[in-house]
Formats: sequence, structure tokens, C-alpha cells
Amino acid sequence: MIRLDNISKQIGRQMLFIEASAALQRGEKIGLVGPNGAGKTTLFRMMTQQEQPDKGLVIAERGLSIGFFSQDVGEISGRSAVADVMDGAGAISGVAAELKALKIALGDPDQADEMDQLIERFGEVQARFEELGGYAQEGRAREVQAGLNFS
Ligand SMILES: Nc1ncnc2c1ncn2[C@@H]1O[C@H](COP(=O)(O)OP(=O)(O)OP(=O)(O)O)[C@@H](O)[C@H]1O
Ligand SMILES: [Mg+2]
Repeated sequence: MIRLDNISKQIGRQMLFIEASAALQRGEKIGLVGPNGAGKTTLFRMMTQQEQPDKGLVIAERGLSIGFFSQDVGEISGRSAVADVMDGAGAISGVAAELKALKIALGDPDQADEMDQLIERFGEVQARFEELGGYAQEGRAREVQAGLNFS
């Protein structure tokens, strides 16, 4: 659950939120609609703790990881959409990055001397990735994006 409790937020001279409250329940799907500059992105930034409200509280359930796909296409150019969605997946993304680096290291002749340690580490990281649901997450990310017509 994510709860916004009596949030007020001003940017420059513009009051974006005045004592606003809302709650998102687990499993709920919500669309946020409003004119340009109304504060939609600011609301998401407050949910992800990238920005603080002037007043009020943002409360997220313990252990929740919040993914956020930027509306700014400039930020995602040159990377796959799946990689970006996975990046929003909290702890999994760090583990996925290490797994990828280890795969490259395993094929690198310059690191042949460290092969034993690399293989051992690979096993640990892969187990952690599996435990976090990383493989299922990646499949799910691809499935959702196919549904949205991303290639
Ligand atoms: N870093 C900043 N510096 C100055 N003003 C900002 C900053 N970030 C946001 N604003 C202003 O705050 C207001 C809300 O911006 P926000 O990006 O949250 O709107 P939005 O609803 O997401 O708009 P859009 O539909 O264009 O994405 C806008 O007037 C914007 O100009
Ligand atoms: Mg926005």
C-alpha cells in the first residue's frame, strides 16, 4: 500500500497540492489524469522519495519496491525498453546488472586466472536473482511490453 497523507507541495509560486490525501491498495490499477504542469510527475517523484512534500507524509508499505518509467524519452534512448523496466524493479536490477557483468567476465580471456572465483560468485548471484523472482520479472516485463506494442 502507498498512502499520501495531507500532502502540500509548492514549486516556485505554484501550489500543486493542498492537503491532498489518497491511498493505493495492493493490486489496484490507477490512472492519474491532469493538464500539463498540474503536478503528476511531481506526485510520482514524491512517491519514490526523489522529492519531499512541503507538508504531509508519503507512506509506503515496508519492502515495497516502486518502479518508475520516465515520460522523458531522451533518458531511455540507446537502451532497451525491457532493461529500463527492469531498472525500476528495485533490488532485482542491481543483481541483474552484476549477473550481466559476470557473464561478460566469464568469457573474458584476461580474467581466466580468476575463473574459479567468478564461477562461484556467478552461482551465488544467480541464486539471489532467482530468489528475488528475477527470471519471472523479466518474462513479465517482456509480456507487458508486447501488450503495449513495444518492439
Ligand atoms: N525542477 C523544477 N524547477 C522548476 N519548476 C518545476 C520543476 N519541476 C517541476 N516544475 C514545475 O512544477 C509544475 C508541475 O510539474 P510536473 O512535471 O509535476 O507536471 P506534470 O503534471 O507531470 O506535467 P506533464 O503533463 O507536462 O508531464 C510545472 O509547473 C513545472 O513547470
Ligand atoms: Mg509529467
